[in-house]
Amino acid sequence: MKTILTGIKPTGEIHIGNYLGAMKPAIKACLAADGTSYLFIADYHSLTATHDSKVFEEIVYEVAAAWMACGLDTSKTVLYRQSDIPEIFELAWILSCFTPKGFMNRSHAYKAKVAENEENGKKDLDHGVNMGLFMYPVLMTADILAFDADEVPVGEDQLQHLEFCRDIAQKFNHNYGEVLKVPKAVKKDETKSIIGIDGRKMSKSYGNSIPLFAPEKRLRKLIMKIKTDSLPPEAPKNSEDSLALEYFKEFATEIEIEKMLSRYKEGVSWGDVKQNLFEVMNREIAPQRAIYDSLISDRAKIDAILVDGAQKARERSKAVIQRVRQAIGKS
Ligand code: ADP
Ligand code: TRP
Repeated sequence: MKTILTGIKPTGEIHIGNYLGAMKPAIKACLAADGTSYLFIADYHSLTATHDSKVFEEIVYEVAAAWMACGLDTSKTVLYRQSDIPEIFELAWILSCFTPKGFMNRSHAYKAKVAENEENGKKDLDHGVNMGLFMYPVLMTADILAFDADEVPVGEDQLQHLEFCRDIAQKFNHNYGEVLKVPKAVKKDETKSIIGIDGRKMSKSYGNSIPLFAPEKRLRKLIMKIKTDSLPPEAPKNSEDSLALEYFKEFATEIEIEKMLSRYKEGVSWGDVKQNLFEVMNREIAPQRAIYDSLISDRAKIDAILVDGAQKARERSKAVIQRVRQAIGKS
């Protein structure tokens, strides 16, 4: 039976791009998995950039509540908070002693920061780089190796980290024998890229997103802001180039989509299209929003689930760190 493991770095308000592009497919994959699946909130990875304690605390609860609200079955998938697993951090240190510094110099995230400094004419090219950011891939390696993961589903941007992980595990094993399981990266299908209400890729950094759990009134308001052309209601609409229709297709049934396509041909008002979009979207999100709202105001419940997840997860990570300690000669 395969062990599948992946991490979510909490970064702030969750939008429908995150939901459709990452959460929905991952939850489906977890439900379909026949082995053990581990999903964790990589909160200490967020600490490289989030230095406001209130925000740091908040985003962890938001992510946990959102995944639970969207149907993650925590009786099937072990959901835990990275910072609740001390073995990860011990392993991260041990592995850092087997990681050539040159690997980290080549890390995309670090190189991007250096390039940004260069572009901005900064004298110190390491400006704004803390050791957490520099060592990010080592911590990620420990996240994975601490659980003997077989497969790690990640997006394109994380593939380099998985290569580091495999290389570091092999270096360790080369010295001590087959102690660590070398995982396989599974590239997630990222054909789905959700566009924001201004027509660019939806991203919280562009301020063009529809928050997944926006209250109904705000959701409707944002939907009304979606870019359209200025054709009159009776004019046929172009179904090839309609953002509202793209969103509609994500939430509507086949029959509803067929119906909407023929209304586009006949001529339909944008107001009508957006009202219909609001209805199908809210139909899917409203029950999840209700669960989210109740969870987010019941932190003790979230904590209980995460603590239970950490307990289950540590059964695995304790065994791995035991093997590692023995291998390095720490009895
Ligand atoms: P943002 O761009 O808003 O900062 P993140 O980088 O935190 O989003 O993304 C978290 C996850 O959501 C990633 O797996 C990413 O691939 C997915 N995701 C983010 N934006 C989109 C989008 N517009 N369309 C599809 N998936 C997205
Ligand atoms: N670095 C990943 C991201 O930014 C999150 C992450 C942390 C992760 N540790 C991991 C993903 C381990 C997979 C496995 O999205």
